[in-house]
Amino acid sequence: MNKDVIPYLSGKGLTKIFGTSKDRTVAVDHVDFEFNRGEVISIVGESGSGKTTLSKMILGLISVTEGEIYFDGKIRDISSHKKREAYWKQIQAVFQDPFASFNMFYKIDSVLLDCINMRGGKNLPKDKKIELMAEACSFVNLKFEELTNKYPFELSGGQMQRLMIARIFLLKPEILVADEPTSMIDACSRATILDMLLKLRSENDMTIIFITHDIGLAYYVSDTVYIMEHGKFVEHGSADEVILNPKEAYTKRLISDVPKIYEPWDLSTVG
Ligand SMILES: Nc1ncnc2c1ncn2[C@@H]1O[C@H](COP(=O)(O)OP(=O)(O)OP(=O)(O)O)[C@@H](O)[C@H]1O
Ligand SMILES: [Mg+2]
Repeated sequence: MNKDVIPYLSGKGLTKIFGTSKDRTVAVDHVDFEFNRGEVISIVGESGSGKTTLSKMILGLISVTEGEIYFDGKIRDISSHKKREAYWKQIQAVFQDPFASFNMFYKIDSVLLDCINMRGGKNLPKDKKIELMAEACSFVNLKFEELTNKYPFELSGGQMQRLMIARIFLLKPEILVADEPTSMIDACSRATILDMLLKLRSENDMTIIFITHDIGLAYYVSDTVYIMEHGKFVEHGSADEVILNPKEAYTKRLISDVPKIYEPWDLSTVG
């Protein structure tokens, strides 16, 4: 990494402790990171390693127990409602569980209209708004005509995740945090969706933080990989460095868990 470049988003000693002394969980334990503009970063670790907790701190959705986050060269300040809103114009998320992310009683048209309004398009003519919404839907292979007047609970999990990515297409944030963004999408559509996100990166110089337990996926999408174990980063570097030449036993184990699809299956050990 070029040391003269100030990272776009960074963390120093970032820590999150849930609960009180008797019943406490150190979910994220003094992590340091530096993410650059336009970089695709993957945070990889097993279930419970602290990935979602870290992403929620980055997003400003939960408080930080200890440590600092720096954004665009300054300490991130989300101490007031106004400052939080300004921050959220620049950082957005696609979550593991898309159903938890929408107001269930808010029609899909309104979800997309909100995005247009947030980007200053409130006074656009109605047909222009419809054109933008239809464009965003077709970007993720959804048909806007079939979604109008529907509620989020009327969609499948995969359609919901596509809808979330359509929101990102409209919002065009500087930073996207994608927490297992394709967990509900079949393998074939998954590659397409990931390519769509990467296209957004190349068109808008978006910084993308992928959160995943799938190290194969991390290798496919990212420039830089951070490996997380029990709330700590145990190893990080370029995707090639970390995945082709892992140093830590934990990373080696994550890699060895990936099925080798090109090798013939050895069924002789199956009992
Ligand atoms: N709100 C909470 N209150 C108490 N403990 C929590 C809370 N959220 C997370 N934890 C704990 O923090 C640890 C890290 O959880 P986290 O959800 O960040 O893991 P993760 O890496 O995202 O896992 P997964 O891959 O399963 O999504 C876990 O031990 C979890 O039980
Ligand atoms: Mg998680």
